[in-house]
Amino acid sequence: MSDPAPAASDTTPRFIRDLETMVRARYPLVYLVTHEEQRIDAVVAEVAERHGKQLWEWSITQGLRMAKTRAPSAEDTSNPVTALQSIASLKDANLVVLKDFHRYLDDASVVRALRELGHSLKVGLTTVLLVSPTLTIPPELEKDVSVIDVPLPTVGELLQLLKDIFGILKKSNRSEVHLTRDDAEALVKAAHGLTLSEAENAFAKAIALDNRLDVADVRVILEEKRQVVRKSGLLEYFPSDESLSAVGGLEQLKVWLDRRKNAFGAAARDFGLPEPKGLLLLGVQGCGKSLTAKAISAQWRLPLLRLDMGRIFSGLIGSSEENVRKAIKSAEGLAPVVLWVDEIEKGLAGSGGGANDTGVAARVFGTLLTWLQEKTAPVFVVATANRIDALPPELLRKGRFDEIFFIDLPTANERADIFRIHLAKRRRAPESFDVAKLAAAAEGFSGAEIEQAIVSALYDAFADGAQLSQAGIEKSLAETVPLSRTMVEEIARLRDWAKLRTRKASA
Ligand SMILES: Nc1ncnc2c1ncn2[C@@H]1O[C@H](COP(=O)(O)OP(=O)(O)O)[C@@H](O)[C@H]1O
Ligand SMILES: [Mg+2]
Repeated sequence: MSDPAPAASDTTPRFIRDLETMVRARYPLVYLVTHEEQRIDAVVAEVAERHGKQLWEWSITQGLRMAKTRAPSAEDTSNPVTALQSIASLKDANLVVLKDFHRYLDDASVVRALRELGHSLKVGLTTVLLVSPTLTIPPELEKDVSVIDVPLPTVGELLQLLKDIFGILKKSNRSEVHLTRDDAEALVKAAHGLTLSEAENAFAKAIALDNRLDVADVRVILEEKRQVVRKSGLLEYFPSDESLSAVGGLEQLKVWLDRRKNAFGAAARDFGLPEPKGLLLLGVQGCGKSLTAKAISAQWRLPLLRLDMGRIFSGLIGSSEENVRKAIKSAEGLAPVVLWVDEIEKGLAGSGGGANDTGVAARVFGTLLTWLQEKTAPVFVVATANRIDALPPELLRKGRFDEIFFIDLPTANERADIFRIHLAKRRRAPESFDVAKLAAAAEGFSGAEIEQAIVSALYDAFADGAQLSQAGIEKSLAETVPLSRTMVEEIARLRDWAKLRTRKASA
């Protein structure tokens, strides 16, 4: 063998370093969760080289083969059990990749054979890598298998891809490349969150459109990314142009946000600040929780991704636990972003229309909570909740969110603010109304109900061929029974609960 390759350097992605540690520590079975088989093939080949291991591959179509020579093993190993037995008898140091092996893990004899293999490899120098797009580990194997969630490619890996594409284009002479260093960085940033092959496709498409690659192609790449996120069905890009000035009241919350508007980015890291984790907004329905989530993204100029808890648990698209892992991974790939988990309680048992199986709900929340606690990627989570009864106490524990704010019904001053905002939004001059009087008449109204009252007065005025008037809005207020009147007890309970556990959003 030639000189040993240099060891993994500091710029090596963390999952590769983890993998190398496991290989060095002689872990027998490692499960790599990823869609990117080609990328992993290249990574594993390098790791094998660096550690002086013979590389083998198994798939249902090819059986067990030595990667270098493509020579099949002596016996027929297309059967998973035979393949595992044959791996057990490999000599010396090996790295064996099993492709799509999750397919065979519902077979008792395969599971048993894998377990036995795991035990027998403990004394050898062979590591078996299961590479699959989804994680399915039968309970018997849980203790024997170590899992690596392969993250999406880093900016550095994408930059390398772009450089490779340059090289090819230069040689072919058919397309033009007009990129400064900054342009290249902008393109790579736009592609962040895609897998390597998705990024390659996106770049190829950008080139094919006009035979050139330049900074204008950022738009093409972003559109591709939007498509990819949409396909996953769990996260949704939420374009938002609401600024915080569209939110009435909530002064304390606004001050808190304002103090952190520059907290993402290199300068803040250099200063020694941690990445902001996120906020939990609890409170009365219709008082601006969702609106605030949207405004934060616009104000901080970060894309807004909405995570639909209902869909996570719907059972329509794979298992709930798998779904939440996938969603977290995509969000991290798209960082820096605001991840909006609207009505987080929706997935919880007893909240109606959530998971019926409390075990599943607990595991999904466990995954989410662990991530909230440990995440290092700049994903700012804004979770909202209308109800507290079902919220697990762990969610409120320190370290999950930076702060928990309680959003109560608006005070008189806040209601006046909300009237002004919504009048102006409908191109009416707030000064021509007695806003203080309207605010007094709207005692107990939520922001949403105030907006509704204005809209319904607008309808009346329009139908009558009249202009929107003070009296018109007052009439519409008088005809509304606000939710707070029918929910007196619930709201009192919510306030009571919030007093000890949350910070007030209003001044
Ligand atoms: N504080 C507020 N300031 C301005 N508009 C508000 C406020 N609260 C609610 N609204 C209006 O009501 C709508 C619904 O409020 P939303 O944020 O969805 O309430 P929730 O707290 O239930 O998430 C908002 O889109 C906005 O138009
Ligand atoms: Mg809401």
